[in-house]
Amino acid sequence: MDYSVIAKPDISQLKAHPNLDDYAGARASFQWDSIRKELDGLPGGGLNLAYEAVDRHLKTARRTKTALIWEGKNGEEERYTFEQMAQQSNRFANVLTGLGIQKGDRVFIFAERFPELYFAVFGTLKRGAVIGPLFSAFGPDPVKDRLEDSGAKVLITTPDLRERVKDILPQLPELKHIVIMNKNGRFKDALQPGDLNFEDLMAKASDQFQIEATQETDYSIMHYTSGTTGKPKGAVHCHRAVLGHYATGKWALDLQDQDIYWCTADPGWVTGTSYGISAPWTNGATQLIYEGGFSANRWYSLIDKYKVTVWYTAPTAIRLLMKAGEAAVKRHDVSSLRHICSVGEPLNPEAVVWGTRVFDQAIHDNWWQTETGHILVANYPAMDVRPGSMGRPIPGVEVAIVNVETGETLPPGTDGDLAVKPPWPGMFQGYWRNEAMYNSKFKNGWYITGDRAHMDADGYFWFVGRTDDVINTAGHLVGPFEVESALIEHPAVAEAGVIGKPDPIAMEVVKAFVSLKDGYEPSEQLRQELMRFARKKLAAAVAPREIDFLPSLPKTRSGKIMRRLLKARELGLPEGDTSTLEED
Ligand code: PRX
Repeated sequence: MDYSVIAKPDISQLKAHPNLDDYAGARASFQWDSIRKELDGLPGGGLNLAYEAVDRHLKTARRTKTALIWEGKNGEEERYTFEQMAQQSNRFANVLTGLGIQKGDRVFIFAERFPELYFAVFGTLKRGAVIGPLFSAFGPDPVKDRLEDSGAKVLITTPDLRERVKDILPQLPELKHIVIMNKNGRFKDALQPGDLNFEDLMAKASDQFQIEATQETDYSIMHYTSGTTGKPKGAVHCHRAVLGHYATGKWALDLQDQDIYWCTADPGWVTGTSYGISAPWTNGATQLIYEGGFSANRWYSLIDKYKVTVWYTAPTAIRLLMKAGEAAVKRHDVSSLRHICSVGEPLNPEAVVWGTRVFDQAIHDNWWQTETGHILVANYPAMDVRPGSMGRPIPGVEVAIVNVETGETLPPGTDGDLAVKPPWPGMFQGYWRNEAMYNSKFKNGWYITGDRAHMDADGYFWFVGRTDDVINTAGHLVGPFEVESALIEHPAVAEAGVIGKPDPIAMEVVKAFVSLKDGYEPSEQLRQELMRFARKKLAAAVAPREIDFLPSLPKTRSGKIMRRLLKARELGLPEGDTSTLEED
């Protein structure tokens, strides 16, 4: 199929004039200072993400504008203005002060998407503490790893999720307070001895708060991200990242005052904070938050009901929508959509072209990572879209294909390491308590992303693959080591090796190979038991979808499991260099 360029639309025919209407001009003359001037800064000095996203709007007509529209799983609806968001987050900041939380302390939140989560995030930022969002599908192991490593003092959660991870909570000496949210009294007998009740604390707290005078480089948010080896690492961001969220919300998402914006990502992952919290609200848009998960029918009806104009979603979801068929779209009126973006995995060219057919517009792919904090490469509304390309770098940031060993940039058309010239506003400030790992990501003056790509002659970037064993399943990065560690805790498992197996919908699924201890025999029953065991410890999104038994796993002479070889064998590909192989 010929995926020729989708020519940029006639700007005069668009429903809204794009914020970035002259890409080349903007890139040529851009200075980050100009973005800093579009933000307010704290009265009295400093910069705080929560102030830029919420409180600064109270000085304008946006004070009484709806910031958040929430639709619950059961169809409940709630709306909050920017002023109400400010008051509620002030209450939570006061709650934290009452609990003795200081600037820089870590406060983690493990909850479904409902309004109180957002009040707690902003309240934590206003207090000057560091917010750590956790994906609500996680099982006990990922939650423990993150709370332990970060030394979190507060965990905000819900009765059902607390129950899921109850066994690990007593193992966290630094965790001082468990605050339980009981949305609209959904749960009976919600509190365990020692727990605090979110609703009671909020009711007693004042809605006035003097925001901590955070500076640009003070820590704001941390997200754990998986690597090839070891446990996930806490990528820490600072308040200055808000410049990047705001700017890319303007340029790549094209957010404008009249927009109803919907980001389908969960705030437990970075897309759900940078673009599900900071970018829309710093740009003063109204944001739809839907508590439930994927459903083609429900999603289209939400777009129709709330007249969503700008939509940020992910390739796996788009592929599922494509699978649901065009008739499913036609049952709804989705004509309110004026700009659609996607991130997290490669977006198939077919999907971009499909968008032009069913939504009458291209789907705009963009690229970034937990570590980059915000979008760095994007397709913009006023630019030609090349289906299959991630787009071009944002103004103010240099992105290149480099040779890691020399730092040289490679010519167009050559595959190499995708790299970024530091610094940029959202650049991560460190991996929590892991300086060596942080330093290892910077080489010869470049931040090395771990992705392989090439650039074409016109400066569009094309994703090729990852340079490591990290698995991307439905846009979630999974470290093979985490899954292997969980599996070998089962009494039957001697060794485990985990790979990403290509999948038409989720891009990759997690596949494990295990060898068993003496006395255990492979069986379908044991396979099912291991799947359940891993799902309970990790999360359905992270646990293996397939498990194969092998008599032993291929290892190097130094005893490292050769995942590369497991993958090559699984896919029937050449085995490559096996000179270091030690096989029984
Ligand atoms: O491998 C790239 C892939 O997702 C990784 C970043 O994942 P994470 O740190 O979880 O950040 C999520 C926020 C985007 C990248 O290193 N990735 C991201 N966007 C794209 C992509 N791969 C291909 N095309 C993209 N547009």
